[in-house]
This record gives sequence, structure tokens and C-alpha cells, in this order.
Amino acid sequence: MNTGLFITLEGPDGSGKSTQISYLREYFEEKGIDCVFTREPGGTHIGEELRRIILDKDNREMCDMAEALLYAASRAQHVEELIKPALKSGKVVVCDRFIDSSIAYQGYGRQLGDSVRVINEYAVGECMPDITFLMKLPPAVGKSRINTEEQDRLEQEKLDFHNKVYGGYLEIAKHYSERFICVDASRDKEAIRMDLIEAVEKALQDRGILCL
Ligand code: TYD
Repeated sequence: MNTGLFITLEGPDGSGKSTQISYLREYFEEKGIDCVFTREPGGTHIGEELRRIILDKDNREMCDMAEALLYAASRAQHVEELIKPALKSGKVVVCDRFIDSSIAYQGYGRQLGDSVRVINEYAVGECMPDITFLMKLPPAVGKSRINTEEQDRLEQEKLDFHNKVYGGYLEIAKHYSERFICVDASRDKEAIRMDLIEAVEKALQDRGILCL
């Protein structure tokens, strides 16, 4: 259904997604390619309101299924309001986290299992990423990069939770190997940037968005 290109970035907290997203932004600007940068949870007015509720450290009583459904609700709104229209008009969309975050964090981390995939397949319909970059970094390393004061409700979870999430990501990447590109995120930023740009450039050429 897509005429544009849908790219998502995934990985444990502190794996350097934001830095790489800023490099991708520079790249698309330089090439003059129309690109929408967005994130989850969030990306729309309703999504950002849900984000505040989901990540609020004071919402300790939130049950796991409510958490999973709120992420999915934010995603459904995001797809309908922003992602689908952008792709339909031929744009590139780069999204910081998407469906695989829910499968990893709520499915594996919270151990809600396959119900998370099912709920989220309803939420996104046919709108699945063309390329998903998985920033591979052991959670203990990622966690140590985040200031304790600044950690949100999910980031505050114990290392055991984050290890389950990470194990989940590795499984998901194996299962959806046609769209996943795994990147060793323990290397320096420039080496990671080059890997991402190379893959993006190839996809842009394949779709005729970028000519040689
Ligand atoms: P965010 O603040 O964007 O963190 P990061 O900068 O590491 O990407 O993400 C918020 C947190 O929400 C993050 O710990 C991952 C978690 N999350 C889920 O648990 N499920 C989801 O579906 C999404 C999108 C994020």
C-alpha cells in the first residue's frame, strides 16, 4: 500500500536512537528529500497526551494490559492521522519506536505474550515498516547511560525487565528478518551512522526516491 518509505528505529533504552535519528534528519535535509520525523508513544496531539499518562512515574498502579492498550491506542491514532497520509503522499517517515517496542516491552517484558502482537496488528492495519533498525546494545550498558533522575516509568524498571525486553527484540528480529537490520550499537556513533545511511540509501534507490 505504501508509496513512500517507512523506517522505524528500535532498541533498548539508552541505545543511541536519538543521536542516529538526528543524523538521519541531517541526511534527508542535505538530499532535499521530504521526510517526516515522529516518535512513539506520541506523534499526534492525542498520542502526546497518552504519552504523558503512560510514562508518568506517579502512575504506579497502571496494570500491564492498560499499559499495552494505551500504547496501542496512541499508535492507532498515529497511523491514521500522520503516518498513513504521509506515506500515501510519497514521503519518507522515520519513527522512533513502533509496533516492535510493544511486542518487546509489553509482550516479552511484561510477559503479556502474543496478545500484544494481535492488539497491535489491529491498531496498525496494513501499515507496517519497510525497514526496522534494531540498535543492539546490552541493556545494562544502555541503562547506565541514562541519568537516574530523568528516567521515566518504563526506564525505571529493573534490569531483569530490560533483559527480557532485549531477549524479545532478538527473537522479533529473527522472526521478521525481511525488514529488520540489526546494528551493533556498542560502536562509535559515526560507524553506526554509516551503516544506517547505507541501508537507507539503498532503499531510497530501490523505490526511485533517490536517483544514482
Ligand atoms: P522514549 O521516552 O521514547 O524512550 P527512548 O528515548 O528510550 O526511546 O520511550 C518511552 C518508553 O516507552 C521506553 O522505555 C520504551 C517504552 N515503550 C513501550 O514500553 N512500549 C511501546 O510500545 C513504546 C512505543 C515504548
